[in-house]
Amino acid sequence: MLNKLLNQFLEKLDAIAVIGLGYTGLPLALQLAKHFSIIGYDNDPQRIQQLQQGCDSNQELTLHQLPALLPVFTNDISQLAKASVFIIAVPTPVDKNNLPDLLILKEAVEQVGKFLKVGDCVVIESTVYPGCTEDFCAPILEKVSGLQLGKDFSLGYSPERINPGDAVHHIGAVAKLVAASDTATLVFLTQLYQYVTEAGVHACPSIRVAEAAKLTENIQRDVNIALLNELSVAYQTLGVDPGAVWEAAATKWNFLPFRPGLAGGHCISVDPYYLLTAIKEKGGKASMVEEARRINEAMVGRIAAQVLLYMQSTFTAPCNKRVLILGASFKPDVKDVRNSKPLELANLLLSNNLEVDLVDPIVDGHHVEKIAGLKLSSQSTGYYQVIVIAVNHSAFKELKEGYFCSCTFDTSLVIDLTGAFKGVIANRKYWTI
Ligand SMILES: NC(=O)c1ccc[n+]([C@@H]2O[C@H](COP(=O)([O-])OP(=O)(O)OC[C@H]3O[C@@H](n4cnc5c(N)ncnc54)[C@H](O)[C@@H]3O)[C@@H](O)[C@H]2O)c1
Repeated sequence: MLNKLLNQFLEKLDAIAVIGLGYTGLPLALQLAKHFSIIGYDNDPQRIQQLQQGCDSNQELTLHQLPALLPVFTNDISQLAKASVFIIAVPTPVDKNNLPDLLILKEAVEQVGKFLKVGDCVVIESTVYPGCTEDFCAPILEKVSGLQLGKDFSLGYSPERINPGDAVHHIGAVAKLVAASDTATLVFLTQLYQYVTEAGVHACPSIRVAEAAKLTENIQRDVNIALLNELSVAYQTLGVDPGAVWEAAATKWNFLPFRPGLAGGHCISVDPYYLLTAIKEKGGKASMVEEARRINEAMVGRIAAQVLLYMQSTFTAPCNKRVLILGASFKPDVKDVRNSKPLELANLLLSNNLEVDLVDPIVDGHHVEKIAGLKLSSQSTGYYQVIVIAVNHSAFKELKEGYFCSCTFDTSLVIDLTGAFKGVIANRKYWTI
């Protein structure tokens, strides 16, 4: 049971450890470090070295503005002994069968278990299925520490809601959910997280509610995108321009402004599988969630089929069939290429004997090569039969029709998955979803 008061942390008599300093853990650690004594632990020495040099390769934060905070970063695990609150923000991906891969979380929880003392609290920030914190993490903590949940230590859950690449919805501007294994810990965490965000802290009635709320937020997005992906196919079959439909429908006050597209990344394209696995284990099902995933997963194949069909029907003479893909990350203005659908599209087109140039001004070429075995081109070269605008990066918004005409043939096709160039490209065949 948590036996500490927030004042002990404010007076820096006790420390808070943040475990995992990536897209979510780093902003959290820095926010907390403005008020508390923080240990920012990451098991990747390169990440720590980079942070200590004041550089965040994710480009979410510019640390040289905050030199006083740099000493908090460490990859010396023994530093965790100084902490009484442990906040875990490590990745929770899926495996190749789309089943939750909890190995990284398990390792992080085991590490914390080794340093857990009577009166401490462990908070999970990673996205998990309802029941994971209490049924998966707690037994590991008990086994490794020899302590007992409820009697010796407490648990909390606070899902991360930041939106990388979005300067408006940063950690300090988004409401936080908190939940805990007992009332005293809930009060403590509610007070603690008020120092993280100015947008308010919502105390959930249980850890399972907070876990499910996080999944719900992302599943709702996935289902809405799937609906528009389905409608886009339906309207094209009916000979109706989908883009014009969205524009018209959006004039109604309660129309939700989603767009069809490639639902990739490590949240929207992962979190629904956490729910689906948990529900199936209990003998239940969530058909709409499953169908939304199926529809969204099929999008890469649908776009590739469109490219191939156009190549075969328009460019019948033997020649190199070249495609330019603009954008490699999973969403605009981020460097993150985890579960990135443009990379999947590039590989699918390559396996169909097309030449593919992939251009992205933001992402790191080494990451692209490591994750997808693809080489990033610094710019377009020569002429392409098809261009796919895959990601709506701010840098691409500057592109004018002249650019598209300069690297295509009169008969080339521009596939715009972002819809941003509707009305801009008049002298090439233009297709959007
Ligand atoms: N990135 C987002 O937009 C976002 C938003 C909301 C929620 N989430 C969730 O937050 C969690 C973390 O995601 P992320 O994007 O911050 O991941 P990330 O890959 O950016 O960062 C995770 C960090 O944890 C470190 N790490 C891994 N194992 C560790 C261990 N045992 N000990 C210490 N450090 C360890 C890694 O080296 C890495 O630096 C995931 O569950 C994710 O689903 C992410």
